[in-house]
Amino acid sequence: MRPPLWIPAWLLLLHGCATARLPQAANARTDIRDCSTDPPYLPPTATDTTARVAALRGAMQALGAQAYVVPATDAHMSEYISARDARLGWLTGFTGSAGTAVVTQDKAALWTDSRYWTQAERQLDCNWELQRTTWIESIAMWILEAVPVGGNISLDPFLFSIDTWNSYRQALQGSGRILLPIETNLVDQVWGDQRPPAGSGEIYSLPEEFTGSSWQEKVARIRQEMEQHVRHPTAVLLSGLEETAWLFNLRGDDIPYNPVFYSYTLLTNTSISLFVGEQRLAAAARSSLRAACPGPLCVELREYGQAPEHLRQYVQGNVTVWLGTEYTTYGLYSLIPQEKLLEDSYSPVMLAKAVKNSREQDLLRAAHVRDAVAVIQYLLWLEKTVPQGEVDEFLGAQRMDALRQAQEHSRGPSFQSISASGLNAALAHYSPSNGSSRQLSVDEMYLADTGGQYLDGTTDITRTVHWGTPTPLQKEAYTRVLMGNIDLSRLIFPPNTAGRVIESFARRPLWNVGLNYGHGTGHGIGNFLSVHEWPVGFQSNNVPLTAGMFTSIEPGYYQDGEFGIRIEDIALVVEAQTEHQSGENPFLTFEVVSLVPYDRNLIDISLLSPEQVRYLNTYYESIRARVGPELQRQQLQEEYDWLQRSTEPFPLGRAAATAGTGTTGALALATLLSALLPGLQA
Ligand SMILES: *[C@@H]1O[C@H](CO)[C@@H](O)[C@H](O)[C@H]1NC(C)=O
Ligand SMILES: *[C@@H]1O[C@H](CO)[C@@H](O)[C@H](O)[C@H]1NC(C)=O
Ligand SMILES: *[C@@H]1O[C@H](CO)[C@@H](O)[C@H](O)[C@H]1NC(C)=O
Ligand SMILES: *[C@@H]1O[C@H](CO)[C@@H](O)[C@H](O)[C@H]1NC(C)=O
Repeated sequence: MRPPLWIPAWLLLLHGCATARLPQAANARTDIRDCSTDPPYLPPTATDTTARVAALRGAMQALGAQAYVVPATDAHMSEYISARDARLGWLTGFTGSAGTAVVTQDKAALWTDSRYWTQAERQLDCNWELQRTTWIESIAMWILEAVPVGGNISLDPFLFSIDTWNSYRQALQGSGRILLPIETNLVDQVWGDQRPPAGSGEIYSLPEEFTGSSWQEKVARIRQEMEQHVRHPTAVLLSGLEETAWLFNLRGDDIPYNPVFYSYTLLTNTSISLFVGEQRLAAAARSSLRAACPGPLCVELREYGQAPEHLRQYVQGNVTVWLGTEYTTYGLYSLIPQEKLLEDSYSPVMLAKAVKNSREQDLLRAAHVRDAVAVIQYLLWLEKTVPQGEVDEFLGAQRMDALRQAQEHSRGPSFQSISASGLNAALAHYSPSNGSSRQLSVDEMYLADTGGQYLDGTTDITRTVHWGTPTPLQKEAYTRVLMGNIDLSRLIFPPNTAGRVIESFARRPLWNVGLNYGHGTGHGIGNFLSVHEWPVGFQSNNVPLTAGMFTSIEPGYYQDGEFGIRIEDIALVVEAQTEHQSGENPFLTFEVVSLVPYDRNLIDISLLSPEQVRYLNTYYESIRARVGPELQRQQLQEEYDWLQRSTEPFPLGRAAATAGTGTTGALALATLLSALLPGLQA
């Protein structure tokens, strides 16, 4: 589903889910704004940007820049950014997470994808044209019209990835315009004192019980990979914030929902440089990093802003620097002579982080048990309160967040909760706001896509429910989405298979009746790190699946203007037990670690095959065995009873005819036993 041009992978994803539509061509819809009248009509939500745009034009003129390109991301290509990096939002008034602005002396335009068109119309003033696409070719065509031959098209090279920079360069090649990097950020310059300050929260070491291995072990392993590589790189440059956080087992709070901190790392064969606000390190963290100084396991602490200069000096030597091109900026990249570069899409740290060792797997599993308790509490609460008509989407999201927060080791939500009722759930991108949020009702479907950060793991789960009488289409679509979720979850596939090769198993039950969904099928997830963790997933730029990777599995179905369905679980890639083995390595399958039952009210069990029903019943047994005891430990008897009701085994239906009733009886007995003796299977 990826277009040929490189689009940041997360642009195709949404908060906590993989729901974005592809950028679409501009269509002929009318704008909410009316800029043809005097004064123009603007909604009250628009920001007056006249002074800001004028100040930027002044700064551009002083430097001979005829156009200036402003992206939405930060110097680390982060999916979520801090207020300090919200340059696009400050300059344009548009606060969506994806977009690009270009300013010339007499024009200004914002490009964004279909998720954000309505929001952009509500937030932009008449200084801005809205361009309803994100193709770099489209941006380049606009620039070519606005800037005469010989003109400079300027941008901050530390805010563009290598790949994005190359796309611009290709699009402008031979046009007679110059792509001119300017290291001083012009938006920051005109933003001045009003720009929010840099994060100052403490950076701390994860307690040992929550780490998969020590940072020294991780460093040793990466150095070993450097040695074994045919090009013998002498250093690895880390610019993804989660890379440095993972490598040193450090966490911070510079970015909402993501426990990371601004940093770079240069790990060489003999030294380690961590570029970070040094005074922010907790005493214990600093002493752990400095314990082996001087020596190859001594971490040199250098100021964050020194990274480019230090790199410039390092590459004077006879060295080779290994880096990931998907998220390293052109600014850093251009400091390294071509013959001293070892380029891969992802650094060895990113790839090591993606495969969780058995301790990390256990930590993530444990986080999901407590997370299931919070989600079950929420579903039961909704069941009791929605019929009284007193819950709206915003209140629901707040309740969900509070229930998670009460769980042990909680560190808040892992993204802004999506709590969407009725037609709102059909919007790929939707989060309720206070005051304008829809009432939950027994007459509508409701979708909650939420997740938590815990010291032992990051979670992300979507459940769709209906408390009244669903329409036949709602029930069929829900059941088919569930069948797709089940089919992919229980699939057995060869080792090193790419996610995109198998993702259509999640779509097939929908395809069979002419339905589909316009987003990806899943994304990787971290251990108390990003909720969207690259490079794991089911898209064409994801790496092949191997045992130890965690990914979401989240098919959906959206009926515009009516309802939306998504069923999302997190699953671990595990070795499959197969009768035969062809090849050196065992085949793989998934172990679902999200442990919350689906809505029985929406399942048409007659559509499921016997295998699907058996799988579902086995999954429900494992929910009982793992979440039941935790509910009892937390003395949540009502929730425990709800769980038993919600995980009653389904009759095998069509299976009964083929396989006989003995199987059903045995399964029911097994389920009954596990309910009576939950400790047995824990
Ligand atoms: C483009 O930038 C260069 C280098 O800063 C400058 O010398 C030149 O005058 C600029 N061109 C225009 C048309 O302003
Ligand atoms: C650079 O290092 C490599 C490998 O260590 C070595 O083979 C090569 O001779 C060195 N080149 C120079 C110019 O020192
Ligand atoms: C580390 O790399 C440098 C630079 O290439 C090289 O001169 C040196 O011999 C290497 N040291 C070790 C211990 O491998
Ligand atoms: C939501 O709005 C209501 C009414 O304006 C207000 O009382 C309440 O404090 C707001 N809640 C939050 C979390 O902002």
